[in-house]
Amino acid sequence: MTTSSAVPAPATSAWRLLTPPHPASLDDADAWAYRGIAELHVTANKADLGNADGSPTPIGILVGMNNQDYMRKLRQIAVVDTPAGPQVVGTALVFLHVHSNPELAISFVVVHPEHRRQGIGAALARWVQGSARAEGRTTLLASIDFGPDRPAGETLTPASGSGEIAADLPGVLLAQKLGLTLQLVERRSRVDLPVLPEAVSRFEAEARAVAGDAYRVHTWTAPMPEEWIEQYAALEQALSDDEPRGGLEVESDVWDADRIRTEDATIAAKGDQYVVTAAEHVATGKLVAMTMLQWNDLQPEHTNQQSTVVLKAHRGHRLGMLVKAVNLREHARLRPGAQRIYTWNNEENPHMLAINIALGFVPAGGSADFQGPL
Ligand SMILES: CC(C)(COP(=O)(O)OP(=O)(O)OC[C@H]1O[C@@H](n2cnc3c(N)ncnc32)[C@H](O)[C@@H]1OP(=O)(O)O)[C@@H](O)C(=O)NCCC(=O)NCCS
Repeated sequence: MTTSSAVPAPATSAWRLLTPPHPASLDDADAWAYRGIAELHVTANKADLGNADGSPTPIGILVGMNNQDYMRKLRQIAVVDTPAGPQVVGTALVFLHVHSNPELAISFVVVHPEHRRQGIGAALARWVQGSARAEGRTTLLASIDFGPDRPAGETLTPASGSGEIAADLPGVLLAQKLGLTLQLVERRSRVDLPVLPEAVSRFEAEARAVAGDAYRVHTWTAPMPEEWIEQYAALEQALSDDEPRGGLEVESDVWDADRIRTEDATIAAKGDQYVVTAAEHVATGKLVAMTMLQWNDLQPEHTNQQSTVVLKAHRGHRLGMLVKAVNLREHARLRPGAQRIYTWNNEENPHMLAINIALGFVPAGGSADFQGPL
């Protein structure tokens, strides 16, 4: 008898670890590994989080591996051999900052739901530790995503007291086995579209009334206008410097104009698109606030909120709400078919959370950052 399932039963699967080949293009025969990693994320996210929206695309993985100037990436996969060829059943990714955080390694490990509890996660975690140590890194940060359902049993809360994660999630158990402790919980929020245009207009009008004539709003799509690149980089730098990080031992990263240009090239290579709204302080000609929404038409249903920042000296003028409301309006015009937007907020960032809640964002799971010595 033959079976129609492409996934061998766990008891019979013999897996092995390997470094995925890096193809020049997704048309190459070697692209099976990146395609397999993307497929694995879709399967695991559906099982663990209830939807696959946060999954990387094969082109996103390829372009990410081609661009290592600011963040180096090391990868390992677990495969089982099937009559159709190797199937990716586990993946590990290590991020290494190039211009900051020389001691830090950031890791993501995922195992196919039908191949768990066979030691694949532990083997990938050992590879993570070994490769991070070989790179001279001394501290490991592991992120664990969780879904929207409230945990039924025991939960863990970071020392700062904000946010929680179910204590019995497999990822939590593995992180603890590696000697890592919970330091920060980030909330994922979702707003279903459309946000009523009247509501967006009201938020915009209220924010404009407070901000007054001192600020002028600019909205653009890719490419980043040359006149704003330096200032946009300064805003990203301010965000990196200010972001609350709970108990994480992580330094801010380095943002300069070259990095913005590199990011822009990466976004274009992935086929991503974005819309930015920024606020200029009229008296000085400086950008003092910005927000970005980014999407890919390969994933037509959802859009991701990227950075939002208001410089400290300009807070309290409703600029966060202003740039977000204008950007939402512009996004609705550019991408009328999108059904939802996701955003990530640190549980320790009440001002940003308050703006998102006012705009209609609701909790949709999150991620927990564990850290410990290597
Ligand atoms: C976490 C994950 C990678 C584990 O993969 P796996 O292949 O099942 O892991 P292993 O079989 O190698 O188990 C490794 C250890 O994790 C812990 N663990 C994982 N799942 C567990 C479960 N369901 N019950 C109890 N312990 C579990 C145990 O400590 C286990 O070691 P032990 O078997 O010696 O007790 C997998 O469940 C997954 O992909 N989860 C979603 C992504 C995620 O949370 N990643 C974060 C990793 S830090």
